[in-house]
Amino acid sequence: MTMKIPSFDSISPTAKYLLLNKALTTIPFAKEAAGIIFGENSIKYVQERLTSLGSILRILHFEMRYRSVDNALSNIDIKNILEFSSGFSFRGLDICKDPGVCYIDTDLPQIIEKKNIIIQELSKRFCNYPIDNLFMRALNILDDNAFTKLISLFPAGPIAIVNEGFLMYLDEGQKQKICKIIYNLLSIRGGYWITADIYRKKNKEDPIIEDFFDDHGKQFLKEHRVDENRFESFEAWEAFFKNCGFEIYKKIETSSSQISSIKFLAKVPRDKLEEIKRRKRIRETWILKIND
Ligand SMILES: C[S@@+](CC[C@H](N)C(=O)[O-])C[C@H]1O[C@@H](n2cnc3c(N)ncnc32)[C@H](O)[C@@H]1O
Repeated sequence: MTMKIPSFDSISPTAKYLLLNKALTTIPFAKEAAGIIFGENSIKYVQERLTSLGSILRILHFEMRYRSVDNALSNIDIKNILEFSSGFSFRGLDICKDPGVCYIDTDLPQIIEKKNIIIQELSKRFCNYPIDNLFMRALNILDDNAFTKLISLFPAGPIAIVNEGFLMYLDEGQKQKICKIIYNLLSIRGGYWITADIYRKKNKEDPIIEDFFDDHGKQFLKEHRVDENRFESFEAWEAFFKNCGFEIYKKIETSSSQISSIKFLAKVPRDKLEEIKRRKRIRETWILKIND
């Protein structure tokens, strides 16, 4: 009897939610894709609801996370890239304009099927380059056989495995399982794992971000134990990865000049901005390599 590999399909709707947030930024194809999926008015609707500091910081947070992965990729000159749990994020469509890149874009089957249609539409309307080096494939990240098969599609050379917005849904055992799969693949192929999901636990309630998420969002995060799934500190994350055979190759910095949504802070009073600057970082993006 084969054991059923768990998936976390209840998380999938968040992919659309993230796209709507990113539609207010200059992240490649976010606005265009949101227009196709939700209609042009939806973007106006989200913008009209950017009335609180928390909601503005939410957009900044997600844009910063996205840009940090691009920055990480530019730190390692690797052309074979696999993104897992990519949702409605179109980094692959952007990066594949470099013909030397082979990009495998993956998520659960129900997402990747829909995304494939959108990718074709975006490519037809907005890309003046071929996208035959972009492969859309279904992948449940806990399925190591499927993962290994996909990696074998890459031409020779090291690989970069990339993800954002997924590890916070997994408990420690599930995170260990993913580490084991990625460790095995990197030990065969060489390369790096870029993850933007290094979230530490919040120290206390933070009034600035109280309305970062609406009630529905807060309930979703609670049900998915997102806060419990974080480690206490960045040091605890480092120790966790060390136990799984990884070390930090590089921590990635992202400059505010890269963040288009910073413009939404223009009307925020100076003292509030100072308060925001003083807040301790809650998330980091790391490039990991396996221990030699
Ligand atoms: C919060 S979204 C993040 C999407 C995208 N990375 C982003 O930042 O916009 C989480 C994604 O994980 C995907 N997912 C859930 N369970 C998964 C699994 N077992 N394997 C791979 N992806 C999964 C969901 O379908 C969803 O697209």
